[in-house]
Amino acid sequence: MSRAAPSPRARAVVDLCALRANLRLARARASGSRVMAVVKANAYGHGLLEVAHALAEADALAVACIEEALALRRGGVTGRVVLLEGVVEAAELELAARHDLDIVVHHDSQLGLLDSARALPAPLRVWVKLDTGMHRLGFAPGAARAIYERLSTSRAVGALGWMTHFACADDRDSDATARQLAVFDAALEGLPGVRSAANSGALLGWPQARLDWVRPGILLYGVSPYPARTGADEGLAPVMTLETRLIAVNARRRGDAIGYGGTWVCPEDMAVGVAAIGYGDGYPRHAVSGTPVLVGGARAALIGRVSMDMITLDLRGHPHARPGDPVTLWGPGLTVEEVARHAGTIAYELLCAVGPRVPRLTRDDGP
Ligand SMILES: Cc1ncc(COP(=O)(O)O)c(C=O)c1O
Repeated sequence: MSRAAPSPRARAVVDLCALRANLRLARARASGSRVMAVVKANAYGHGLLEVAHALAEADALAVACIEEALALRRGGVTGRVVLLEGVVEAAELELAARHDLDIVVHHDSQLGLLDSARALPAPLRVWVKLDTGMHRLGFAPGAARAIYERLSTSRAVGALGWMTHFACADDRDSDATARQLAVFDAALEGLPGVRSAANSGALLGWPQARLDWVRPGILLYGVSPYPARTGADEGLAPVMTLETRLIAVNARRRGDAIGYGGTWVCPEDMAVGVAAIGYGDGYPRHAVSGTPVLVGGARAALIGRVSMDMITLDLRGHPHARPGDPVTLWGPGLTVEEVARHAGTIAYELLCAVGPRVPRLTRDDGP
């Protein structure tokens, strides 16, 4: 006798068609550049392998660390994969060579690893990262020529490219991006090798920063890199819909305090809904009363504190709401950017935080 599987409590539906459309937009905007699609952190929470396979048209994928790269190889991804943090020990260097990974080299310790590498299965494609003003990772720009001379004679190194990362590309009014780009150009004058600088913000906002390779992350997932805008403003389509359902609709009395800490008090007799999602699923605990959700496709507001497994909703204006009704936390009709603003954070964090308890289901109904 077969038993019906229960439908998942909360779920993230990942629209692969939207993902590919966003990649096409990136390509169209940066038509002279190759695209390194950033899929680190479980593809910004969307599911590493599903996203990687859907982005097969990208020229390379970028991940943070070797574990993510090996997960891609185990999952059948055979194309170029770039390790943005590079490697920290000899065994990782060996693994990178064995699995044909590109590595970023940003620190003297990594130059040392390359110098002392035993015969590798194949020379590595290396991206040298220069610190042009972000002051996180990278060599001083003035070191570029010496590093080039050192690596171009190394048996461990095959192709050599150059990379930098922008600190303020999400702020179109800042001149920091143009300054960083000028430092990058000057440091590399006369040196061979492809160049890569642009994350999503620079790809969309600074045409002169696109160079040989662009490295979009957040825009692929349908989110604007700029704080006051949404993906739709950039022509992007949202990829993740986070949804759950109502598990209770309760009649409350004027003066009833709702949830932990009793932080929200009913101003009148009213219906309060309980939806099955909480910070244990990655929904942000800092979302304030008034954060929008969709109940049956219509806006309602979060009230009271977010608990581990549940949130409470003001259902005034939803007289027909019933347990089982769909609740959308973000997706088409309610941007993750708007929710992030109510939670005092950015969409990147919300997407990455969707937890392992939430199954990712893919949807694919288009080109
Ligand atoms: C080195 C590097 N390049 C590109 C990206 C993609 O950035 P974004 O998601 O803003 O496009 C990241 C992400 O943080 C990164 O660390």
